[in-house]
Amino acid sequence: MTKPRKQVHLAVHFPGVNNTTVWSDPRSGSHIDFSSFEHLAKTAERAKFDFLFLAEGLRLREYAGRIHDLDVVGRPDTFTVLAALAAVTDRLGLAGTINSTFNEPYEVARQFATLDHLSDGRAAWNVVTSWDAFTGENFRRGGFLPADQRYERAERFMRTAWELFDSWNGVEVLADRESGRFVSDPAAGAFTHHDDHFAIEGRFAVPTSPQGRPVIFQAGDSDGGREFAAATADAIFSRHGEFTAGQAFYADVKGRLARYGREHEDLLVLPAATFVLGDTDAEAQDLAAEVRRQQTSGPTAIRLLEEVWNRDLSGYDPDGPLPDVDPVAGENTVVKGRASVRQHRDPFAVARQWRELAEAKGLSIRDLAIHVSGEQTFIGSPATVAETINRAVQEDASDGVILVPHITPGGLDEFADKVVPLLQERGVFRTEYEGTTLRSHLGLRP
Ligand SMILES: Cc1cc2nc3c(=O)[nH]c(=O)nc-3n(C[C@H](O)[C@H](O)[C@H](O)COP(=O)(O)O)c2cc1C
Repeated sequence: MTKPRKQVHLAVHFPGVNNTTVWSDPRSGSHIDFSSFEHLAKTAERAKFDFLFLAEGLRLREYAGRIHDLDVVGRPDTFTVLAALAAVTDRLGLAGTINSTFNEPYEVARQFATLDHLSDGRAAWNVVTSWDAFTGENFRRGGFLPADQRYERAERFMRTAWELFDSWNGVEVLADRESGRFVSDPAAGAFTHHDDHFAIEGRFAVPTSPQGRPVIFQAGDSDGGREFAAATADAIFSRHGEFTAGQAFYADVKGRLARYGREHEDLLVLPAATFVLGDTDAEAQDLAAEVRRQQTSGPTAIRLLEEVWNRDLSGYDPDGPLPDVDPVAGENTVVKGRASVRQHRDPFAVARQWRELAEAKGLSIRDLAIHVSGEQTFIGSPATVAETINRAVQEDASDGVILVPHITPGGLDEFADKVVPLLQERGVFRTEYEGTTLRSHLGLRP
C-alpha cells in the first residue's frame, strides 16, 4: 500500500533583527509600523498559510558596549502586535514567542487566553527559555536562573499555565437576567498551584477561550529542549531545514514521543527556512549569492568573527585574511545578546577550522563569513522550490516550514503568488481553510 500523501504546513516568520533581514534594500520597509505586520499577515492569509510567527528578543543586542546597529534595531511587543493582527485577519494563526524564564505564568496565561478570544481560536505560544544574565538585567534579576534549571522552570511554568487555562473548563457564562446569575458555577477560575518554582492561588480572570489552550511551540535544540518538546509541545520550531539534518532531527524528536504516551502526529516539526526565487534555477542561484553579500557586509563579517574571537577585530580588513591572533577564552564580553554566540562552545576549535577553510579555499574574512553563514534553504524556480519543500515533507525531513523572508514586508509576495499554487496543484496544500482554529489548520487533536 502506498503511504498517504502528507499535507504541507506553511507559516511565515516576520523578518527579525538578524542580518538575514536586508533593511538596506530599497524595497524594504519599516519593521515597526503596523502596516508592515498587516501586509505580511494578509499575504500569508491570502495564500492560506497556517500561521504568522513572531520571534522575540528581550534585550537589544550590543557590541563593545554600544547598540548593534548593523542590523535592524528595535522590537515592538509581541502580544500587542498579535492582538492588532487578530483584528485585520480572519483565519491565520498567530504565534508569539514568550519566554518562560523572565515572565510569570498568570500574566502569560491571561494574555494568551485573551489573544485566543480576540482571534476566535488562532493563538499559539512559542515557549522559549533563553537565559543569559545580560537579558535578565532588563528584568532586574540578572542571570537569576542557572542554565540547567531553565527547562525545569519551563516545565513547571507550562503545567501552571495549563491549570489556569483549564480552570474555567465547562463553566458557562450564563448572564441570566431572570435568575441574576452570571456564570454556571461559582467555583469558576479557582486554582491553587504550589511547586518549587511557583506558589500562586486565586482565580483565573479569563473564561475558557475557543481553543481552550493555545497551540504550544518549542524552539530549544538541546537534549533538554527536545525532551520538553516531546512532553508538552504541539510543534517544534527547529533550525534543521537542510534535508539530511532535518530527517535526523525529525526521527530524533518523534522517537521521544512514546515515552510520554504521545503519538507520532501529536508533534509537528517545522524548521525555519530562507528562500530565493528566480525565473530559472540559474537565475535564483545568482540572486541568492547577491542576497548573501547584502546580508554580510564587511562590518557584519567582522562582527561575526568577534562572536568567536571575543576581542575587538575592527582593525582587520574584511577583504583580507583571517586574524592570526587567537580568541580570548571565557564568556564573550564583546558581543552581547546574540544567541549564536552560544553555538561556538569551543571558540579555539572554531577559529582553527575557519582559518584552515579560508586558507584551503583562498577566502577573505567576508568570503568566509558568507560561507559559514550558509546558503538559503530553498533556492530555485517556483517549481524547484515547491518540489523541494514537498519532498522534505513527504520524506519526513519536516511537516512543513516557517519561512523567513529577507525583505520586510513584501518578501513573501512572490512565494504566495508563485510557489503556493504549485503546492496546491500537487494536492499537498489547502486551497481553502477548512476549520477556523489554528489547531484545526495544523491537524492537531482538539
Ligand atoms: C529556530 C529557533 C528560534 C528561536 N527563536 C527564539 C526567539 O525568538 N527568542 C528567544 O528568546 N529564543 C529563541 N530561541 C531560543 C530557544 O528557544 C532556546 O531558548 C535556546 O535555544 C536555548 O535552549 P536550548 O539550549 O534547548 O537550545 C530560538 C531557538 C531556535 C532553535
